[in-house]
Amino acid sequence: MARTLQSDIRTKLIEAFSKADGNFISGQEIAEYIGCSRTAVWKHIEELRSEGYILEAVRKKGYRIVTKPEKVTANEIQLGLAAEVFGKAIHYEETVDSTQKIAHRLAGSGAPEGTLVVAEEQSFGKGRLSRNWYSPKYTGIWMSLILRPNIPFQQAPQLTLLAAVAVVQGIEEATELMPGIKWPNDILINGKKVTGILTELQAEADRIHSVIIGIGINVNQKNGDFPEDLLEKASSLFIETGHQVSRAKLIQHILVKMEILYKLYLEQGFAPIKVLWESYAVSLGKEIKASTLTETIHGTALGITEEGVLLVEGHDGQIHNIYSADIEL
Ligand code: BTN
Repeated sequence: MARTLQSDIRTKLIEAFSKADGNFISGQEIAEYIGCSRTAVWKHIEELRSEGYILEAVRKKGYRIVTKPEKVTANEIQLGLAAEVFGKAIHYEETVDSTQKIAHRLAGSGAPEGTLVVAEEQSFGKGRLSRNWYSPKYTGIWMSLILRPNIPFQQAPQLTLLAAVAVVQGIEEATELMPGIKWPNDILINGKKVTGILTELQAEADRIHSVIIGIGINVNQKNGDFPEDLLEKASSLFIETGHQVSRAKLIQHILVKMEILYKLYLEQGFAPIKVLWESYAVSLGKEIKASTLTETIHGTALGITEEGVLLVEGHDGQIHNIYSADIEL
C-alpha cells in the first residue's frame, strides 16, 4: 500500500472536519477516513491547535473544530484598508521560502510601489546578519513591501527606521501594548523581541530601483510555540496581551502608518521620522554592548545620525559610529 503523505493526511483531516460540519467526529472515524493510526490523527490535531485552530475534545464524542485561524489573504487585508497606495496590489501565498525573494522577483519585473507580498508561512525566512527567521504557519505576519523612492543610495537605511516607527504605531493602534525600538529596528515588548525588519535594495551604481522592506511579527504564538533557542528572547502579541490579535487588521494599521510616514519622509526628509524613532527608542542614553563583525564596543548609546547610524560613546570617551551590529542592553 502506498504510504500516505503527511500533507495528504492534513488535507483529509480538514476534509473530515468539513464534512462533520461543526459536529463531533470520533478519533476512530477520522482514522478510518484518512487511513492512518489514531496516534497520527492525534498528532495532526495537535499541529492544527498550534496553528491557531480551536478544537474541542469531548470523551466518547471525539473532536470538533470551534474556529479556524484567520488568514491574511488579499481579500482579508484589502477589505477595510484605509491606505491609498500601499497594499493596492497584494501577492499572497500560503507557503513560501521567503517573501523577500518573491518581492525581489516582482520588483525586478516592474511591480508598482506599495506592492505587498504576504505569506502564511516561510520555510526559509531571512533575518538580519544572515540569520534565519522563524516563520510558522498562521501565527505571524510575514510580509515584504516594495518601495521605489527617489533617494540617494546611502539614505536607504532611513527607511528601515521609518518602518520600525510604522510597526510600533500599528501595534499601538491594534492592541493596548506600547512597544519600544532597539536600534536599528528590533521591536521589543517587555524586553523581548516581537518584530524584526530586514531592508534590502535593488540598485545600480547609486540609483535605487527598489527597496524591499521585510517585516516579521510574532502575533499569535503561544509560550510553548517558540523553539528553545528563542524562548528567552522572543515574544508574541498574544503572549503580551493574553488574547488573539487579528493579523489582517494589524497589517491594515501598519500599511496606513507606513504610507503616512513615507509621504512625510518624501516631503520633509528624515528629520520628523528621526524625532519619532527617538521617542520610541529604548536603548538611547543606556549602557549597551554593540557587537560588530570586527569588534565589541561597550558604552552609552547617544543617539542616531541623519543617516540612521548609531552613535556610541565608548568607556574610553571615544565616539563610535555603528553601521551594523547586534545590540545588547
Ligand atoms: C531580523 O533579523 O530582525 C529581521 C527579520 C525579518 C523577517 C521578515 S519576515 C518577512 C520577510 N521575509 C523574510 O524572509 N524576512 C523578512
